Amino acid sequence: MQKDLTSIKNLTTKDIQGFLDLAKNIKSNPKKYSTKLFGKTLGLIFEKPSNRTRVSFEVGMFQLGGTTIYLDSQHIQIGKRETTHDIALTLSRYLSGIVVRTFSQSTIEELAKFATIPVINGLSDFSHPCQALADIFTVKEKFKKFQGITLSYVGDGNNVCNSLMFACSKVGLNIRIACPEGFCPDKLVLRDAKAQALKNKCEVVLLDDPRDAIKDADIIYTDVWTSMGQEEETERRKIAFRDFQVNSKLISYAKPKCLIMHCLPAHRGEEITDEVIDSSNSVVFDQAENRLHIQKAILLSLLSAKNRRD
Ligand code: CP
Ligand code: NVA
Repeated sequence: MQKDLTSIKNLTTKDIQGFLDLAKNIKSNPKKYSTKLFGKTLGLIFEKPSNRTRVSFEVGMFQLGGTTIYLDSQHIQIGKRETTHDIALTLSRYLSGIVVRTFSQSTIEELAKFATIPVINGLSDFSHPCQALADIFTVKEKFKKFQGITLSYVGDGNNVCNSLMFACSKVGLNIRIACPEGFCPDKLVLRDAKAQALKNKCEVVLLDDPRDAIKDADIIYTDVWTSMGQEEETERRKIAFRDFQVNSKLISYAKPKCLIMHCLPAHRGEEITDEVIDSSNSVVFDQAENRLHIQKAILLSLLSAKNRRD
């Protein structure tokens, strides 16, 4: 097992399976784990807003017997007040782990490189591994298997999409992606995921028509058209993504029992309509809840590994 969770790309299928199995046990018997991280402190640095990630890490750490410190990013100022190197080495002398949400993936990689404690990616512009792990955990709960199941991602080829491609291809879950021209996922991620999919007997397909992507899908997944930090592009994106809204008309092309997923926060009326996100097929709040369980599994696995700081 790696020291850090910076990207799902760095996890093996076995690592992922370990997180999923542990999360299942934690979810069914949380009390058994209530003192496992006693005496440990998790630092949280968020350079972008958060509801789910921050709250689920804080509650998760508390439920495992540990504690958290929210480090105001305006005070820490990664790379500005002092170098990322010096921050990593200093925090390693106090904390047992760090969760970081930042713009650039390279900031997370650099922190992880110099820190002697685990660094967990709480979202970057490139990836959102904790989200994708919670998502495949949710898929496994609903379908009891990955093989033969198809998740169709409709919308922006963004951080969430990249992590889903890594996660799905490593566990054998088919992923079909429909994005408008100019908003496709990272080419290297696509190449890597296709190679993984070959090994794990599933497929990664990129399309430009959402109707083709959702035909025969078991799950339709979408995310915001404008991610945090892209607010200036909102109007341009609304036009580009016009035909990619997950609405009743679009889902009429899907199987009637097709599940609806969204990482949240949702921009209701843009990428998804109220009637779809609030429908009985929607599992978006199960996904949100599962952030807690999977992250407790991640914390337990990384922070209690031998030679980690108490
Ligand atoms: N899905 C997710 O990461 O939500 P937050 O941005 O609220 O943390
Ligand atoms: N793609 C979104 C995900 C939010 C959890 C963003 O980066 O804003």
